[in-house]
Amino acid sequence: MQIKEILTLTPVQQEVTVKGWVRTKRGQAAVTFIAINDGSTIHNIQAVVEGNNINEDTLKLVTTGSCVAVTGKLIASVGSGQAVEVKAEKVEVYGTADETFPMQPKRHSMEFLREKAHLRFRTNTFGAIFRIRHALAFAIHKYFNDNGFFYLHTPIITASDAEGAGEMFHVTTLDIKNPPKTETGDIDYKEDFFGRETSLTVSGQLEGELGALALSKIYTFGPTFRAENSNTTRHLAEFWMIEPEVAFYELEDNMTLAEDFVQYVIKYALENCADDLAFLEKRLLDEEKNKPQNERSDMSLIEKLRFVVDNKFERLTYTEAIEILLKSKPHKEKKFQYPVEWGIDLQSEHERYLVEKHFKKPVILTNYPREIKAFYMKQDADGKTVRAMDVLFPGIGEIIGGSQREDDYEKLLSRVKEVGIDPENIWWYLETRKFGSAPHAGFGLGFERLVLFVTGMTNIRDVIAFPRTPKSAEF
Ligand code: 4AD
Ligand code: MG
Repeated sequence: MQIKEILTLTPVQQEVTVKGWVRTKRGQAAVTFIAINDGSTIHNIQAVVEGNNINEDTLKLVTTGSCVAVTGKLIASVGSGQAVEVKAEKVEVYGTADETFPMQPKRHSMEFLREKAHLRFRTNTFGAIFRIRHALAFAIHKYFNDNGFFYLHTPIITASDAEGAGEMFHVTTLDIKNPPKTETGDIDYKEDFFGRETSLTVSGQLEGELGALALSKIYTFGPTFRAENSNTTRHLAEFWMIEPEVAFYELEDNMTLAEDFVQYVIKYALENCADDLAFLEKRLLDEEKNKPQNERSDMSLIEKLRFVVDNKFERLTYTEAIEILLKSKPHKEKKFQYPVEWGIDLQSEHERYLVEKHFKKPVILTNYPREIKAFYMKQDADGKTVRAMDVLFPGIGEIIGGSQREDDYEKLLSRVKEVGIDPENIWWYLETRKFGSAPHAGFGLGFERLVLFVTGMTNIRDVIAFPRTPKSAEF
């Protein structure tokens, strides 16, 4: 039985066996208290060893980090802090851990724990994060399933650059020291495994669209890869993305879906991860005590999550956002690092100003200049903007990027050529606009950015088990 379940039992001296890792061991005269955790819950169960019930040599091996099985009677706890405890009758040590075990019961820095990513699961913080991550993933599948979407598995290896940003990791079996060459001296990818140049995908969207233009409502949820050299607290080279794509949806419907969807999954976490969220809320509060007053958030973690669930997101166009930024205090006082003018790609400082200072709630920006957005977005009648939407969150910035898609064959083809993509390379994508084209829209939610928001963590490396970032792929 898992500890989570044992902790809910009514103690009637029934025999239970607890298996888990020792968090702490403290002794008091002839009594020893062992706190055991098996990861099923943030809460430990306490095993009490009295007198010489247990062989002294065995008890010596029970140290922080060791793995044990304790069998005994489940009794009401006399101490405060827990309802039940186990009166140990038998202790088996599966695996010992000496004093070099790095996860000793004290506060470790996040940097230190990142270097020990193989063991950091055994801390309260990371236990909570990964249970919440799981709950969010489950809620995402549930939301889509309950709303008539089909889960489509789009390929990881691809020959096309969906976002057109050229930030792809190559996939090849060629001998990189001595690749075959063409007559002109280029690498001859015809000799490569797939007979062409391939990479890891940056997005499942293009294939997702093909599915939506038959199944009507699909979503993908898979790993995506970006070789962008961004060493920030919000970028990973390998991250998970959720991409719904819906036939007959226009931009407005897409915004409504995005809002309803994120509110649903955050609400699911609030309802199903209360203990873990309470722990992380307290952790954040403790962390913020070390910050100057003006950098502390005015809402607690749970208040912040409720706020997002209970309030409508603000919707405005990119052009309106630029006007607000131009009138803003930090712009007038030259406090923004990057200049503001119509046409710029908004920087994180601009997004955060809009969300955290101006509107003080999530914001959906739409109708961005076509030059700064991907080729597949539907062009607006003004010839200047496209039907794009970005959802911006407090503390995070962009959490969702999406759009209505260009469904007109000629317009799409000319845009493809304009941005320098060889139409031959995505003939299959273009063909869907020839045969029964339909208005459709979709978006991509960065899963780790969502987990970051819900857990109140501040670095994206701490919400994925084994982060992949520039110059780092340990574990
Ligand atoms: O805005 P992006 O690039 O949009 C797309 O990839 C579209 N194909 C999505 C679609 O319309 N189907 O990425 C979507 C989201 C971002 O808003 C962000 O949350 C996340 O993916 N993201 C990253 N998360 C972590 N690390 C990175 N390097 C990320 N790049 C994007
Ligand atoms: Mg984007």
